[in-house]
Amino acid sequence: MAAAPKNHDNLPGGILGKAIIWVDDRFPLLENWKAHLSEYYAPKNFNFWYYFGSLAMLVLVLQIVTGIFLTMNYKPDAALAFASVEYIMRDVPWGWLIRYMHSTGASMFFVVVYLHMFRGLMYGSYRKPRELIWIFGCLIYLTLMAEAFFGYLLPWGQMSYWGAQVIINLFATVPFIGEDLAVWIRGDYNVGDATLNRFFAFHVIALPLVLLGLVAAHILALHEVGSNNPDGVEIKKNKDPKTGTPLDGIPFHPYYTVKDIVGVVVFLMIFTVIVFFMPEMGGYFLEYNNFIPADPLKTPEHIAPVWYFTPFYAMLRAVPSMFGSQFPGVAVMGAATLILFALPWLDRGKVKSIRYRGPVYKAWLWAFVVSFLILGYLGVVPTTVWGQLPKGLPLLGGMDTATLVARLLTIVYFLFFLLMPWYTKNDKELPEPERVTS
Ligand code: HEM
Repeated sequence: MAAAPKNHDNLPGGILGKAIIWVDDRFPLLENWKAHLSEYYAPKNFNFWYYFGSLAMLVLVLQIVTGIFLTMNYKPDAALAFASVEYIMRDVPWGWLIRYMHSTGASMFFVVVYLHMFRGLMYGSYRKPRELIWIFGCLIYLTLMAEAFFGYLLPWGQMSYWGAQVIINLFATVPFIGEDLAVWIRGDYNVGDATLNRFFAFHVIALPLVLLGLVAAHILALHEVGSNNPDGVEIKKNKDPKTGTPLDGIPFHPYYTVKDIVGVVVFLMIFTVIVFFMPEMGGYFLEYNNFIPADPLKTPEHIAPVWYFTPFYAMLRAVPSMFGSQFPGVAVMGAATLILFALPWLDRGKVKSIRYRGPVYKAWLWAFVVSFLILGYLGVVPTTVWGQLPKGLPLLGGMDTATLVARLLTIVYFLFFLLMPWYTKNDKELPEPERVTS
């Protein structure tokens, strides 16, 4: 049966219009343009916090493009890797720019994604019917952490080498299979050339493909149910009886494409200032020890992961080892990331947005964010940073103060999730409005 003729009214004239029609007769171009852009209705009250989804997409593209150019001159060989990065920095035309864009992009990716996730927490965007968007998001977050970890080994500096050594050794703490697991990951008994080669393969092809697939699934799931908004009101509940479009919605294109460009411009201004004036960011974006080639015989005095991992690293250090095994810390660290998946089912509140939540939820959200930030700080500094507790103190005497604080904050982090079913159910919420407020 012949397909119904497509509607090609209102297209630009001339060769451009003809080209669009030619493609559209062979590919669902206009159908997708309408479904995802010009006739995709988004709530009209998006605010500052809604910039970060499109910015995350921008950074993903930046990382892929700069990554491709880096790969043209990088050598995934333990004997050559460090020098090849120096070659990119000094001899390859514009190589320094590409490398700094990629290293800055890695950190900025996490800045953007953390703000994007925080928005989700504030406005209850993980709640029904958006559970799957959230789950895809959590998978993206885990994949992103793996991607950053694999990438960090590639320059083959001291921190690359010893950071990988420390993290892979964590897998060795898994009961029964740990040692074999660690050898399997490294491909050797020590971090070496085999490790570098497989990390390269994962970093440049396997995980970017997974990330792209997950981001596509994330957006498709979002467009299936529609965006949440700062009021947490479902805009599909109030439709114009004549047109059937949401009364509180506006077409994504041109309204939000233009708004997102503003976000992109501001973001690129900040990004460029970092790339040109402070690419190392005081040792946070590029650690100073990583400008020293990897030396398997010389352990750096203070090994700390890059800032975006440090909240979890602080948790790892805070948990005491049991029977000489660090596994409990590793398990807590793993649980801290996995518990995010359960969020849609832990929240029992009637309203979604922080605007209408009760004081108890607000207090817990603050406690959670502050704990996460302080844990992040404690993961960068040595555990001795705040000195020791007085020797005479029962049970705690002589313990590092920072370790005790990290322990307490780890408990706060988990209680935010574990107590959520109770405090969200019994909180004094305000009634959610029928329509979005501007
Ligand atoms: C590469 C990383 C990511 C990209 C490119 C991305 C992209 C996007 C985009 C474009 C949107 C729609 C625009 C917006 O609401 O800001 C969105 C929405 C959303 N994302 Fe992500 N995202 C990423 C990571 C994450 C992560 C890690 C999470 C959570 C764990 C997450 C959770 C959500 C949620 C819940 C929404 C719906 C928000 C709402 O409607 O209020 N995303 N994402």
